[in-house]
Amino acid sequence: MEMTEHSVERHLMVVIGGTGDLMRRKLLPAMRLLTERGPLRDRVVILASGRRASFDDESYREWAREALDESGLPADANGSGWCDRCLHYQAIGDQDRQDFEGLRARIEELEREHDLPGNRIFYMATPPGAFIETVERLGEVGLGEGPGWTRVVIEKPFGYDLESARDLNRRIHRHFREDQIYRIDHYLGKETVQNLLAFRFANMLFESVWNRDRVGSVEILVAEDVGVGSRGEFYDGVGALRDVVQNHMTQLLTLTAMEIPVEFEADAIRDEKIKVLRSLSAIDPSQVVFGRYAAGEIGGEPVPGFLDEEGVAEDSATETYVAMRAYISNWRWQGVPFVMRTGKRLPEKLTKITINFRCPALAIFQTHSQATVRANSLVITLQPDEGFDLCFEVKQPGDPLRLQTQSLRFRYEDAFPDLPDAYETLLVDVAQGDQTLFVRADEVEQSWRLYAPLLESRPPPYPYAAGTMGPREAERLLVPRGEACPI
Ligand code: BG6
Repeated sequence: MEMTEHSVERHLMVVIGGTGDLMRRKLLPAMRLLTERGPLRDRVVILASGRRASFDDESYREWAREALDESGLPADANGSGWCDRCLHYQAIGDQDRQDFEGLRARIEELEREHDLPGNRIFYMATPPGAFIETVERLGEVGLGEGPGWTRVVIEKPFGYDLESARDLNRRIHRHFREDQIYRIDHYLGKETVQNLLAFRFANMLFESVWNRDRVGSVEILVAEDVGVGSRGEFYDGVGALRDVVQNHMTQLLTLTAMEIPVEFEADAIRDEKIKVLRSLSAIDPSQVVFGRYAAGEIGGEPVPGFLDEEGVAEDSATETYVAMRAYISNWRWQGVPFVMRTGKRLPEKLTKITINFRCPALAIFQTHSQATVRANSLVITLQPDEGFDLCFEVKQPGDPLRLQTQSLRFRYEDAFPDLPDAYETLLVDVAQGDQTLFVRADEVEQSWRLYAPLLESRPPPYPYAAGTMGPREAERLLVPRGEACPI
C-alpha cells in the first residue's frame, strides 16, 4: 500500500486452481486490468495450473477469453494479444510429486523464455482446505525458495477452530517463512475498509472522541440479501460465525478499535490489531443469538429456506445469522458494547459500522416537552453506497422548540467514481511485498481463541423469515434506533 507502482519487480504468478471459479470471476479480470493500464503492466507473466489435462496454453487462453468476456472486459482489446502474451497453462493432474516436478520445470522454462529474474508468486485458488497439500508439495520439490523472492497467497478459511488453525500455520511454516505468506481476507482489500485507518488517524476531529468517554456503543453490520446459492454443502459445514464473523467482521472490529500504530507499516499495524484481539473479553454465550433463514421473500420474490437449499443436510443445525455483544477490556473501550450482526437472506446487502455517541451530559431542554434529544452517531457505510453520515441534532425552525436529526453526508462516488475491486488492490500489494492488508498467523489464532468456545456450545439457531432482519430473539442485543436521550 505504501510503495509506488515502480517498485513492482518482474515476476511469475503461478495460480494453482487456475481453472476454478475464483480465477474466472476475480483473478483474471483483476490481472487483466492491472496489466493493461495499472502497476503490473509488463511486470508479470501468469502460469495457471489445474487438474484438467485436456488444456494446453492455447485452449486455456480460449477459456480465459470467455471468462473475461463474461466479466465485461475485452480480453484482447485492440488486438493487444494479452492472453497470448501473459497466459500459460500447466496441468498438475493428481498433484503428486511428479506433477510438481513438471510444474517446476515449466516455471524455469517460462522464466528463461521471458527473461524473468526468478521472482515467484504462488496463488492458492484451490477449493477450501485443499491448499495445504499443495503448499507441502511446493516445498517438497524445492519451490519454497527460488532464485528471486517467493511469496505464497492463501485464501480463507484459515482453519475451522483454534487447533486446526495452529496446525495449518505449523505446516505452512515448514516450507514458507511468515514474511512470504499472504493470507487474504478480501475485506481488507476494500477501499472503504482501508480508509478506516486514514479516517481515524488523519482526522484529529474524530480521533479525539473515539473512546469510552464519548462513545456509547459501536455496531458492525454485515447484511446480505443472497442465500447460500450453490455453496449449500460447503456453507452447511461452516456457518455464519466461521464464514464472516471470525474473519471479515473481526477485521472491521479491530480496525475500528485499534490504537494508533507507531508507523504506517505492516507489522506496526498488525501488532495493534492483535492487541485489540487480546483485549477482547471472552464472549458471554448469553450475549450471542444464532439464527437460520426460513422461506420468505426478497425483493418481492419467494425464496426457499436454508434447509431446502441444495446440499444442506435435512437435520442441519448450522446458523446463517449471528448477533453478539463483545467487550474490549482496555483503557479506551472498557464497558462499550460492540454489537456485531451478520446474516444471509436479510432484506438488503449492507455493510456498515455505526458509532453511537453518548447523550449530552446535561439535558437543558427538559422544560420544552417536545424537544427530545437523540444521541449523535457516525455511520460508516462500507458497501454499497459507500460513504459517511454524521448525524446530529438541529433546531426545527419555529415554535415550540423541537429538535430534528440531520446529517452531514459524504459519498465516495461523488468524489471518486471508480473504486478498485478488492482483488486488484491485494494483487498489487502481493507483487510489491506489502503485507499490511494481509492477516498474520498470530492474528488468525487469536481470533479463533475468541470464537472457538462459542462454536462448541452453539445452541440450535432461531428461525427467521428470509427478507427480515433476523430472529426476534436477537433484538435484546441490538442498539435501539432513534431512542430519545433520558431527560
Ligand atoms: C465470503 C463469504 O468470504 O464473503 C461469503 O464466504 C460472503 O459467504 C462474502 O457472501 C461476502 O463478501 P462481500 O465482499 O460480498 O461482502
